[in-house]
Amino acid sequence: MDRIILYGGNRLTGEVNVSGAKNAILPILAATVVEGNESTIFNVPNLRDVEVMEKILLALGCTIKRVDNIMWVNSKPLDQVKIPDELAREMRSSIILMGAMLSRCGEVIISYPGGCEIGPRPIDMHLKALKDLGAEIEESYGFIHCRASKLKGTEIQLDYPSVGATENIILAAVKAEGTTIIRNAAREPEIVDLQNYLNKAGARISGAGTSVIIIEGVNEFKKDVTHYTMPDRIVAGTYMIASAITRGEIILKNIITDHLQAVIAKLKEAGCLIYSDENSLKIIGPERINSIEMVQTLPYPGFPTDMQAQIMALLSIANGISIISETVFENRFKHVEELIRMGANIKTFGKVAIIKGVKELTGTKTTAKDLRGGASLVLAGLVAKGRTEIENVYHIKRGYEDFHKILKGLGANIELVE
Ligand code: UD1
Repeated sequence: MDRIILYGGNRLTGEVNVSGAKNAILPILAATVVEGNESTIFNVPNLRDVEVMEKILLALGCTIKRVDNIMWVNSKPLDQVKIPDELAREMRSSIILMGAMLSRCGEVIISYPGGCEIGPRPIDMHLKALKDLGAEIEESYGFIHCRASKLKGTEIQLDYPSVGATENIILAAVKAEGTTIIRNAAREPEIVDLQNYLNKAGARISGAGTSVIIIEGVNEFKKDVTHYTMPDRIVAGTYMIASAITRGEIILKNIITDHLQAVIAKLKEAGCLIYSDENSLKIIGPERINSIEMVQTLPYPGFPTDMQAQIMALLSIANGISIISETVFENRFKHVEELIRMGANIKTFGKVAIIKGVKELTGTKTTAKDLRGGASLVLAGLVAKGRTEIENVYHIKRGYEDFHKILKGLGANIELVE
């Protein structure tokens, strides 16, 4: 099994070209099946989750060609309605194929999805919304069987602005009869990217990025699409923390700075100097990190839950006491015990963590329990004294392209042992 081995203490400097966003490309790849058209997608990150989605599309009958970060998907030959079990279980995002496949075939069979183990992550809102649009759903023996001869536009009030449910509804509603209105929709930038992709294909969606999204169903949209995937704001945020934690000086290119405002605000509070324009920024880490009174994770534009583990690694060496409140997921503190093994002083009370900054972390053997938690251990290892070993690197590969190579290029003493 792959391991990362690193020796902390080096100051990281240099430039990073941020890759395309995992959470944008996955729903866009699902969207490629809605109509039998051809898509050329640029800036596709090289990640394990993207590979899984690619395998699912191939199993459904699509043809795919990939050269570096460009992907061509032709969904005309799609002729299957069952998502292979082992692939669906590997990745939670497979669930957004429900809406896309209902639009395309009026039927889909999928097992309950997998992904990071960060709490129960139910899919009740997805299923309820698809039912509201007219789908019949049978659940048995871990499988979900959805059918609809014709979906009908309707008004959907989400109990919570779920990213995946919002995307699933959009994908199901694009060819439904009439208009669908989603209220309390998630406002994440990745949903705007999905809207842009679908509208290029001929869909009529407006309002993504706000909490009310309107989808006017169209009969067909067969236009071939060329799309450039938006940059990954979580990857960008992770490298910002790599700079902050090592007293480094890193320049990020190919970002949308506006998507990073919540992270920028907290890192400034921590004492970082940040200079930015629209599509790049420079971040300089301070001699000693300031503690932060409160970091509360929230749906966008609040502080992202996908950056919670990484900022915890940073705050574990801050000068003082910080509090993190995780409001999005039930059980997203699995990295805490690993950070404690490295010498961090953290106590959790339900969804709240209190972090008393220590002067120094110490390298040891650790295990990545999920994607962002795994990234937080790498960040902690960058500054820890001595040798840090991280097991279960496959979690990290789900969301970071060439992570160890990029960190090495910035000056880290890091190896991937395969
Ligand atoms: C997406 C992101 C993930 C990010 C999360 C929150 C992708 C591929 N993944 O995940 O990286 O951490 O948004 O920003 O884009 N919930 C329910 N019932 C449902 C759906 C969700 O109770 O039917 C709950 C979840 O358990 C969770 C909260 O709502 O507590 C937010 O989940 P959601 O926004 O749906 O996250 P994902 O789309 O799974």
